[in-house]
Amino acid sequence: MNKFLQAVSGTSRPVVIFGASVIGKIVLDSLEILNIKPAAFCDNDARKQNEPFHGYPVISFERLRADYPAALVIVAAGRYFNEISRQLAAAGFNDVFSDSDVIGCIDFRRTPRASLEKIMWHLAKIGQLAEMMEFPAGDLHVPRLNVVITTRCTLKCRHCSSLMPHYRKPADSDTSEVIAALDGILSGVDLIYHVELLGGEPFLHKDFAPIARHLLDSGKVLHLDVVTNGTVVPAERELESLKHDKVSVVIDDYGELSGKLAPLTEALRRHGIDFRVNRHWAWADLGGFEPRRRTEAQLKELFAKCNFNSCAELLDGVLYHCPRSSHGTKTGLIPDYPADALRISALGPDRAAAQERLRAFFLETAFLRACDHCDGNTSDSLKLAPAGQNMRGVSK
Ligand SMILES: C[S@@+](CC[C@H](N)C(=O)[O-])C[C@H]1O[C@@H](n2cnc3c(N)ncnc32)[C@H](O)[C@@H]1O
Ligand code: SF4
Ligand code: SF4
Repeated sequence: MNKFLQAVSGTSRPVVIFGASVIGKIVLDSLEILNIKPAAFCDNDARKQNEPFHGYPVISFERLRADYPAALVIVAAGRYFNEISRQLAAAGFNDVFSDSDVIGCIDFRRTPRASLEKIMWHLAKIGQLAEMMEFPAGDLHVPRLNVVITTRCTLKCRHCSSLMPHYRKPADSDTSEVIAALDGILSGVDLIYHVELLGGEPFLHKDFAPIARHLLDSGKVLHLDVVTNGTVVPAERELESLKHDKVSVVIDDYGELSGKLAPLTEALRRHGIDFRVNRHWAWADLGGFEPRRRTEAQLKELFAKCNFNSCAELLDGVLYHCPRSSHGTKTGLIPDYPADALRISALGPDRAAAQERLRAFFLETAFLRACDHCDGNTSDSLKLAPAGQNMRGVSK
C-alpha cells in the first residue's frame, strides 16, 4: 500500500499541506478526490499567512509545531521540498510526504475523468499524465501554448522578454483572426495541457474573456492562465464571463508598478476566480540581437537548456517557439527565419497532414535560428531586477 495511504488510514491525526502555492492547490484537489479534508495550510512566507487559501487557514511554522505536533505533513513546495523536509525533521515531524505520494494514492481507472481534470494539468507538468491516463497512441498532446492577444502594455519593461517596448505601433490582435488561428491549431491537436493568454497586457484587449471561453469550450485545454501585470482591473461583466474552474489569473507583482494589485485580487475573489500572485526575484538577460555565429551543435545546446524552449507562442496567426523568436521576428530585430515558425493558414484542410506538421513543430524541434540572436534564459542568465522601466506605457 502507498505510504501516505497507509499513514492516513484509520487515523484521526490532522493533515497539513506545507505550501500555500499552486502545488498546494493540486494537493488539496487530490485530497478531495481521496475524500480527505486537511486541517490547514502552512507556509514560511508570512505574507501568505494573512488570509485563507482556498478556504483554509494558512499558519506559520511556529503554529504548526504548537497546534498540530502530530500532523501528517504533505510538502507541496517544488524545488524547496528538501529544505522544508529538513526543517520538519529537525522539529520532530516524522510523517512527511510529497505531492507525488498523495497523487500516487488515486486510483485513476476508477475515478471519473471529470474529478481528475483539475489535477491532470499537474500530472502533465510532472510527466506522469500519459502514464496514469489511457490516451490513444496517435493523439497529439501539446504541453504549453502562449496565445498573444495584444502588443499593447501599461508598462515598458526595458528587458521584457516579449520585447513590448520595441513595438512602434502596439495593437490588439483581431478577435476573429485569433479564433480562426486557434481553431486551426485545435483541429490538429487532441489536448493542450497549459495555455497562457498574454500580451503585452491581456486585460487591455476587450475580448480577452470570449477568447479564453473559446479555448475552454473546445474541451481540449486542461488549464488556462491569464497573465497580467496587476495594473488593470477588468469590468465586472468581463470578469464574470472569465469565471471557469479551469481558469486562473496569474498576477505578476512588480511592487509599486502593479498599482491595481489589491483591487484586482479583491475583484477576482468576489467573482470566485482562482488567482495566484507571482513575485519575481530575477529576470533573465537575453542579450542583444546581433548574430553570435554559433554552430548547429551550440544552438542545440543553448535551446536544450533555455527555460523558454517550451513556450510555443501564437502571434498573429503564426506559431513560434518562444517570445524572443515571435516578437523578435515581428519587430524586425531578428531576421525572419521561415524554419522557426509555422503559419496556421498554411496548414491546409487535411487533418492528418496538419497534425503531422503540428507534431513536428511542437515535439521535434531541436533548435531555432533565432537562438543565434540570443543568450537564452538559463539559470546563469537570471540576474536582472524584474520590470525595470524605460518609461511609462499607455494606460487604460
Ligand atoms: C511578457 S509578460 C506578459 C504578461 C504581463 N504583461 C506581465 O508582465 O505579467 C509574460 C511573463 O514574462 C515574464 N518576463 C518578462 N521579461 C522577462 C525576462 N527578461 N526574464 C524572465 N521573465 C520575463 C514576466 O514576468 C511575465 O511573467
Ligand atoms: S508588463 Fe513588462 S513584462 Fe509584461 S508585457 Fe509589459 S513590458 Fe513586458
Ligand atoms: S535561446 Fe532560443 S529558445 Fe531561448 S529565448 Fe533565446 S531564442 Fe528563445
